[in-house]
Amino acid sequence: MLVLGIESSCDETGLALYHSNNGILGHIVNSQHEIHGRYGGIVPELASRDHVLKLVPLLDELLNRCKLELKDLDLIAFTNGPGLMGPLLTGAAFAKSLAWALNIKHIEVNHLEAHIFSVMITEKNLNPPFISMLVSGGHTILSIINQKNEYKIIGKTVDDSAGEVFDKVARQLGLPYPGGPEISKASEKIRNSKYKFPRPMINSNNYNFSFSGLKTHVIQVINETKLTNQNISNIAFDFENAIIDVLIHKTLKASQEFNIKNIVIVGGVSANKKLRFRFQNEKSNNTNIFFPDIAFSTDNGAMIAYMGWIKSKDNIVNSLNIKPNPTSKII
Ligand code: KG4
Ligand code: ZN
Repeated sequence: MLVLGIESSCDETGLALYHSNNGILGHIVNSQHEIHGRYGGIVPELASRDHVLKLVPLLDELLNRCKLELKDLDLIAFTNGPGLMGPLLTGAAFAKSLAWALNIKHIEVNHLEAHIFSVMITEKNLNPPFISMLVSGGHTILSIINQKNEYKIIGKTVDDSAGEVFDKVARQLGLPYPGGPEISKASEKIRNSKYKFPRPMINSNNYNFSFSGLKTHVIQVINETKLTNQNISNIAFDFENAIIDVLIHKTLKASQEFNIKNIVIVGGVSANKKLRFRFQNEKSNNTNIFFPDIAFSTDNGAMIAYMGWIKSKDNIVNSLNIKPNPTSKII
């Protein structure tokens, strides 16, 4: 079965082809970072307009690269939420009308679920149960994935998400959007801590997170500091470590308490190299940590195509009604 996956929930237009026997055949992502960069955050209307412009040429390019044609498609999977309403609508309208024209099925995919299972695209022997730490621009959710379709959220952020705080601190440091990779780059050469930043809720007796106090604290320090390259790097280093400390501590604690040895770390922030290195370094010997391929950490069509295939055995009813769910939950 050949599945086309379409991701358009935010500022990436991602398309991919997944074959049930051969895996991901190709994927393509257009990021709108330049468009939104000058505003310091995503402008939903501009995002929708760019998805409209890019969907058709990107699909053409993907099919050409893979030497396939529209008639080879068996199923179209698309992100139905959560995300921004306009961008979700463009992807849904495109997916449904294409499926209708080709007389094939389409399937709605939850963006968060797709992030969680994105690890299994490359880790073919990994199966639930596992602990999932989803850290993205929109979400920070710790959950237990018992089996496909059976999830239990054990903790989430009570305010900002981890990615959002990376973006906001980076902006105050004068770094471009998206801030996560920029903070990571700025901190690369630093070896020693200079600032003592808080680790919010690290010892709370639940699995929730809070990053907004850390953000305010770091921004206060930024406001009192002359922003030389050296100072930017030092602040980036200590800020990055503060977030990573909390994420690692809580995730490993959950793995121990619930006696689940396999852990997946997914979502845009999981592209962070220090996060990857430190998780592998600080885990206990009998714990396994899995990350998606770096290209499938941030938003992409491959995870949508793959999730579409996983869900293809469900009962699918084609309908041209478009009802994106911008705030849908995974349970
Ligand atoms: O999963 P994603 O692409 O979109 C959402 O579903 O939200 O995540 C985007 C977030 C942004 O906040 C971005 O700054 C962050 O992921 N991010 C990173 C890195 N790469 C992307 N954060 C830290 N380090 C990175 N290398
Ligand atoms: Zn995402």
